[in-house]
Amino acid sequence: MPRPPHVPIVLALAVALLAPLLAAGPARAASERIEALIARMTLEEKAGQLNFETADWSQDRGLYMSEETEDRLRRGLVGGLFNIHARGVARRAQEIATRETRLGIPVMLGYDVIHGYDTVFPMPIGQAAAFDLERVERSERIAAIEAIGDGVNMTFSPMLDTSRDPRWGRTAEGAGESTWWATEIGRARVRGFQTADPRDPTGIAACPKHLGANGASKGGLDYTAMEISERELREVHLPPFRALVDTALCFMAAFNTYDSVPVAANPFILRRILREEWGSDAMVMSDFGALSELERHGVAETDADAAEAGIRGGLQMDMASTFYLAELPGLVRAGRVPAALLDEAVRAVLTLKERMGLLDAPFARFEASEGRTETSPAPHRAEAQDFAERSLVLLKNEGDVLPFARSVRSVAVIGPHADAKFEMLGSWFGRGVFSRPVSLAAGLADLLGPGVDLRIVPVAAFEGATGDETRAAVTAARGADAVILAIGEAAGMSGEAASRTDIDLPGRQMDLVRAVLAEGRPTAAVVFGGRPVAMEALAAEAPAILKVWFPGTMGGTAVARLLFGDVEPLARMPVSTPRSVGQIPVHHDRLPSGRPAIKWPDVYSSNYLDRPTTPLFPFGHGLTWTRFEFGEPAVDVRRLTDDAPVSVTVPVRNAGDRPGTAMVQLYLRSRFAPISRPVMMFRAFERIRLAPGEAGTVRFRVSADQIAWWQAGDRFAAAPGPIDVMTGPSAGEVRTVRIDYMP
Ligand code: BGC
Repeated sequence: MPRPPHVPIVLALAVALLAPLLAAGPARAASERIEALIARMTLEEKAGQLNFETADWSQDRGLYMSEETEDRLRRGLVGGLFNIHARGVARRAQEIATRETRLGIPVMLGYDVIHGYDTVFPMPIGQAAAFDLERVERSERIAAIEAIGDGVNMTFSPMLDTSRDPRWGRTAEGAGESTWWATEIGRARVRGFQTADPRDPTGIAACPKHLGANGASKGGLDYTAMEISERELREVHLPPFRALVDTALCFMAAFNTYDSVPVAANPFILRRILREEWGSDAMVMSDFGALSELERHGVAETDADAAEAGIRGGLQMDMASTFYLAELPGLVRAGRVPAALLDEAVRAVLTLKERMGLLDAPFARFEASEGRTETSPAPHRAEAQDFAERSLVLLKNEGDVLPFARSVRSVAVIGPHADAKFEMLGSWFGRGVFSRPVSLAAGLADLLGPGVDLRIVPVAAFEGATGDETRAAVTAARGADAVILAIGEAAGMSGEAASRTDIDLPGRQMDLVRAVLAEGRPTAAVVFGGRPVAMEALAAEAPAILKVWFPGTMGGTAVARLLFGDVEPLARMPVSTPRSVGQIPVHHDRLPSGRPAIKWPDVYSSNYLDRPTTPLFPFGHGLTWTRFEFGEPAVDVRRLTDDAPVSVTVPVRNAGDRPGTAMVQLYLRSRFAPISRPVMMFRAFERIRLAPGEAGTVRFRVSADQIAWWQAGDRFAAAPGPIDVMTGPSAGEVRTVRIDYMP
């Protein structure tokens, strides 16, 4: 007797509300060969196509396929393999799939390629700080080329979650707090991975993640429930995904709930929004084991319930739980799941394989990477260095401590990051450990040569220095021409499942900082971290601060070159830096208050008693080697219509005595509208390089779509009304000109 269906209450409600969407929709047009394949497949083979299982790994054998996995593969029960990073295993899997199975359907071979593969680029948040889409795209091109060498043909990247809480470790993997910037970065990353043609054998299929508001993390925790408004979902979290509907072949559903239903089984997101409204035909992959997590979320009692909820909700491929494989054939036979729903998902998986060229040429990527001799060749490392140099944010530089003069005779480099190699890579480094990252000490030694007395004082623990270490640090700093404090978070303090309640410098690092600063030498703090480290005390006490995120394989070289002025600081903060965790959420695009905090302290305004509401460093902040004056923005016309954008010009002058590059930022606000709109929204930036004393002008184009807000369904539009156009060097320092939107 088949079990009666058990659908717990929450899911039942969602199902009832969305009943019309839950029947398998009309079959999407798939190629004839796909339909012919589906017609020949058994229920088990169909469920097998939806099964994305993990390859095995052990200390002695490295990556391998167990006999059980090989057996399932041979029987057509595996649609793709995860965690592939070895050419031999990948090739063998593809040979079994195409030559030893009944239907010869190739497998996807997936790996998380997050910020490089053999050559590691800066952590994504650092890449976002570079504000350079060309380099983002090139880094993914290189990552794809390196990854295909190991047999990878698909990646679970880019991560496009708009981060709303820096306690959340995954802030490190995204583009920061601006939805617009995450959208631009997402496009560039997908182009880099896939090229313009997803069949290109030098590319890999991208699977942007995590669709469904993962960045709305509550309390900064991973894997939690999110209760946000539909407006926040649509305006803050979904736009980067919406922008990829024509190019992404796959989306990964987020772990979190939305409106109390986990996204992995959420028909509102996976069916209504993705399919009905956006018209997307991308395949939807679960996050790792997300189907099994439906039970722990309390929306499925058994594995079969979870499989049913997933397939009805619109989830097509099951990463790592094997519930689809184990349960779907039985569910279809028992009449609990319509056969058409299973076919719909199989069609999506096969269509993905067709679109990425696998059905026609399953070995094309192996052929394209045949005979490679080096995993991380010099040109790739040069790109990584160049990108790292552009990701470093100069937060503070009192008295022009930086850049240090090349004439120095002695340099002390102190702290847990002083000579750390693998820490350079950050939390998700692909195969980068094998490419020997350059430590800061090594980068400095190389740059300064043997004539400089380089005093390296590593500190073993990130929680603080021992007495001996502190004494050695003070001795090294004494009389040094330049002192570098290499401090901040360890690589493992951000990334997945790496949230922190305290996001200031870890442990007792400030004690070491104070002991060294007391020597009174020219000192710069180099702060590592995958999030905006709060550093209120450091910002008050250290004269110079360089935020370096995790700069990757060539990090040590890049940071050394910037500290000694061989390169200029071009990066800006893609996130606001809170003064204290108590201020969170703190982001530039917040909604206005009825009693805004104009000054601090103040009474009866939206203020804290103990600290201002403003961030320590605002979004967009970053200094240069010179000083710029940003003038008033001017507009060509005051009326913005749907057809005619407004041209905005901003005068900039280099008021310092060194050449430099200014980055002018544009923010917009619908000043009065039927609904309350964010106080500012980052929408564009322009750079201008100016000689000392030179003045120039940058130009922006403001169009109506930049201020549009969510109306209904997939429709975004603005209402007529005044708009504040704000320009300046950061979100914390803008000048305003008002225009009127009259469509
Ligand atoms: C993460 C995903 C990742 C997957 C596979 C999950 O835990 O949330 O971002 O792609 O694991 O590694």
